[in-house]
Amino acid sequence: MGFGNRIEDAISTAIQDGQAAPSPGKLADALQYAVSPGGARIRPTILLSVATACGDDQPRLANAAAAALELIHCASLVHDDLPCFDDADTRRGKPSVHKAFGEPLAVLTGDSLIIMAFSVLTDAAHLEPKRAIELLKVLATRTGMPNGICAGQGWEAEGTVNLAAYHRAKTGALFIAATQMGAIAAGQDGEQWEELGARIGEAFQVADDLRDALYDEDALGKPAGQDDLHGRPNAVTELGVYGAIDRMKDILSGAIASIPKCPGEALLAKLVNTQAEMLTPLKWRAGQASKIPGE
Ligand code: IPE
Ligand code: IPE
Ligand code: MG
Ligand code: MG
Repeated sequence: MGFGNRIEDAISTAIQDGQAAPSPGKLADALQYAVSPGGARIRPTILLSVATACGDDQPRLANAAAAALELIHCASLVHDDLPCFDDADTRRGKPSVHKAFGEPLAVLTGDSLIIMAFSVLTDAAHLEPKRAIELLKVLATRTGMPNGICAGQGWEAEGTVNLAAYHRAKTGALFIAATQMGAIAAGQDGEQWEELGARIGEAFQVADDLRDALYDEDALGKPAGQDDLHGRPNAVTELGVYGAIDRMKDILSGAIASIPKCPGEALLAKLVNTQAEMLTPLKWRAGQASKIPGE
């Protein structure tokens, strides 16, 4: 089975379990709405790629880890779009969860998806209990305080923000979880996979800042110009458009060098190159960023 099917099957099973009787109908519908149709599913794809590169000897545990990680990501988007955070009306080309279901159900949807992520891992723990505990630990570390998404969102309430620390917690955290959980699911040590995840994550957020500044809502499927609107620290304000593009190229070239020795090293280098091409469209690489705010 390809990565895409493995990810979708594992997410669907988790959501169906969460929708079982006696679940309240609207919240049950909102769970499904929040996870499908999905976005790029980049985090679980990276997770399964690393697991495969490390031998993938427990594919059912890797599938559970992939679903758990994507559920946390989807939850973070539901909460991120709420009026008390970014107040975004659209996500993935459709109304955001609070627009479709109202704020109380959106808060509960995010909460339910976070809890579901941890349940998926505990349900799979019998396959390899020691690995499952490690997976739970990494997912918790990269979700909460002081090094997870909660910390990342928390930086937005501070007066002075270090951009790298903010990006690392807000976005890098789940990419670090992706590489580490992929390795752990396949029985390898997660520690040495941190740098690769951190680098892909940082490049990804710089690319997101660039898209926020340069693209429109139709192209993004979510509101554009948000960093400017909310006065968020971001790579474009700090480095300028071309400075941000250069920064992303630097981070990604270091990513290839940071891939740990493993049987599937070459496959992973290919994946990073493909991601790099997706993150830096040709015209950006050719120095043609179409809209250049403030320059
Ligand atoms: C959006 O992540 C949030 C950021 C961290 C920038 P993605 O761009 O991975 O969102 P989807 O899942 O593909 O919609
Ligand atoms: C997203 O940050 C990070 C999390 C959801 C934790 P942004 O607010 O920059 O992402 P988008 O642009 O809304 O996807
Ligand atoms: Mg945000
Ligand atoms: Mg946002």
